[in-house]
Amino acid sequence: MWHFRLWDVQDVAVFLSITLYLCHLAGAISIHSPQRSLTRSVQEDVFFSVDISCVGIPTIQWTFMSGAVSRAIGTWRPGFYTNITADYSSRVQHYNNGSMGLSDLRLPDAGYYVVTVTDETGSSKDTGFVLKVNEVIYEDLQYLSVSALALACLAGLLMLTMWLLDKVYRKIKAWRRRKEMPENDATELQPL
Ligand SMILES: *[C@@H]1O[C@H](CO)[C@@H](O)[C@H](O)[C@H]1NC(C)=O
Ligand SMILES: *[C@@H]1O[C@H](CO)[C@@H](O)[C@H](O)[C@H]1NC(C)=O
Repeated sequence: MWHFRLWDVQDVAVFLSITLYLCHLAGAISIHSPQRSLTRSVQEDVFFSVDISCVGIPTIQWTFMSGAVSRAIGTWRPGFYTNITADYSSRVQHYNNGSMGLSDLRLPDAGYYVVTVTDETGSSKDTGFVLKVNEVIYEDLQYLSVSALALACLAGLLMLTMWLLDKVYRKIKAWRRRKEMPENDATELQPL
């Protein structure tokens, strides 16, 4: 009889630990993000879309990384506080599901963006995004047209130089010919 009771206690313990484990799984932080690699042009906006779930109210923290640079963008806890770094305050929009919008992109914004979610138990999880920022196309066109103009100017200059050289050459040839002519042909020198 006592033997069976003991087994009952063990069963309960196993059941409890399984329940706790399932609760822990259910309570684990999850970060869902549809797209982790984004490409935008200068002056465009980007939206890092995530949907987080965890136990209680999360603390969301976004960090920018590029090479050796690591910069805090902002930290917020929905309903409690929002702290966006001064450099970003005018360009960042924050959302309760963890998403972040960054507007008016510049070339140095290209890099790695990490969102770190910390739940009330103190455990945390993060996810990274890669952002590529391209130069605006019209800047390329401007560059091309300036190059074309410079080339055209150079070609014009070359043509002018060749024309002048040709003129000088002809003049020298005529002068030499006249020099070699006999003295009695002096009348022909008149147009000089
Ligand atoms: C997060 O919320 C924003 C704004 O409500 C929404 O546009 C975006 O789609 C959400 N992201 C996900 C992954 O659900
Ligand atoms: C806001 O964030 C900055 C940079 O991470 C930090 O230095 C500052 O102490 C924070 N302020 C508050 C009120 O949390």
